[in-house]
Amino acid sequence: MRILVTGGAGFIGANFLNLLVPRHPEHQFVNLDALTYAANPRSLDPVASLPNYAFERVDLCDFSALRAVFARHQPEVVVHFAAESHVDRSITGPRAFVRTNFEGTFNLLEACREIWAPGQGIFHHVSTDEVFGSLGETGRFDEETRYDPSSPYSASKAASDHLVRAWHRTFGLPVRVSNCSNNYGPLQFPEKLIPLMILNLLERKPLPVYGQGLNVRDWLYVEDHCEAIWAIIGAGQNGRTYNIGGRSEQRNIDVVKQLCRLVAEETGAAEPELLGLIGYVPDRPGHDLRYAIDSSRIEAELGWKPRESFASGLRKTVRWYLANRAWIDSVRTGEYRRWIEQNYGSR
Ligand code: NAD
Ligand code: TYD
Repeated sequence: MRILVTGGAGFIGANFLNLLVPRHPEHQFVNLDALTYAANPRSLDPVASLPNYAFERVDLCDFSALRAVFARHQPEVVVHFAAESHVDRSITGPRAFVRTNFEGTFNLLEACREIWAPGQGIFHHVSTDEVFGSLGETGRFDEETRYDPSSPYSASKAASDHLVRAWHRTFGLPVRVSNCSNNYGPLQFPEKLIPLMILNLLERKPLPVYGQGLNVRDWLYVEDHCEAIWAIIGAGQNGRTYNIGGRSEQRNIDVVKQLCRLVAEETGAAEPELLGLIGYVPDRPGHDLRYAIDSSRIEAELGWKPRESFASGLRKTVRWYLANRAWIDSVRTGEYRRWIEQNYGSR
């Protein structure tokens, strides 16, 4: 199969490619990515020179460039990860979110419709549980939960989900949608909670916990998410939605405390000193209280289950950041941005 992955230089996309490109030499993978601030080409070192991998630096909002990539590679499967993904950035600068998440998804759907005969191809849209808004103390999101997004990020993802389903109903495009809970693991840009706290701990910087730290997220190890998407591509049904979650609800403050303990254990630092870095800061506007996913559909229909527990996944993640200082430094110093400009600046 010829598989086009958008956003493959970001956190989840790079994990997806690093997992699947070596495992499936019989498939051709093309990574289409604009290389925004959130992308790090170093993340793709394990696959960059493999014969079944190619890279195209293209912005989804540049429709003619997108069409040219489709004409060149004739993808049979599209896995759509590319997005602006950070809620805090969507509060300070929502425009990029509407542009990439809405207009970019629209362009991608149109590019597929141009080259695929009716019923041909698979368009897998990677989305988030944040489209459902906030849960109270109880209950879980299932595939029928009403959309009720709170942030510009989740509203733009909800809008993109609606486009994808409309292209299925109106044009017969073979789409599949997955709504997943919060991911963590290697290669995550350190603006998100878990890598931000790990890096701040290593530098003994304050750990900014929003509000009282009582918000709950349902954490899933990134490779489990990638395996779920692969299972849906392999055996899912067109027009169907799959919720993906970790059955691993954690309050933010408990996540941060676990990270203090793990970093202390892994580096020999004194845990009380690390716990002393925790500071409560003003809450995020529109901050959803709780997310929790009911993933019984994908478990029953496709036999998928998360393999990693939160305890083991979090330790692996801490170890990965400790062992990959060059990746961290490239992010921290902006070295990777200079690399992108040198290698792609003139294209
Ligand atoms: P990320 O921010 O780490 O990476 C996004 C990637 O998309 C980057 O490589 C970036 O360069 C690329 N990109 C951005 N704008 C683009 C454009 N206009 N054209 C082409 N490429 C562009 O994001 P992530 O955390 O890897 O998330 C991937 C997808 O998964 C997103 O759609 C996100 O909504 C969804 N998701 C993320 C999580 C999570 O916890 N991170 C959970 C559920 C769903
Ligand atoms: P984040 O990683 O931004 O993911 P999302 O907002 O998409 O769930 O944040 C996860 C949780 O951690 C969320 O409830 C906000 C909180 N948070 C903090 O308390 N401090 C921080 O510095 C960050 C980035 C997030």
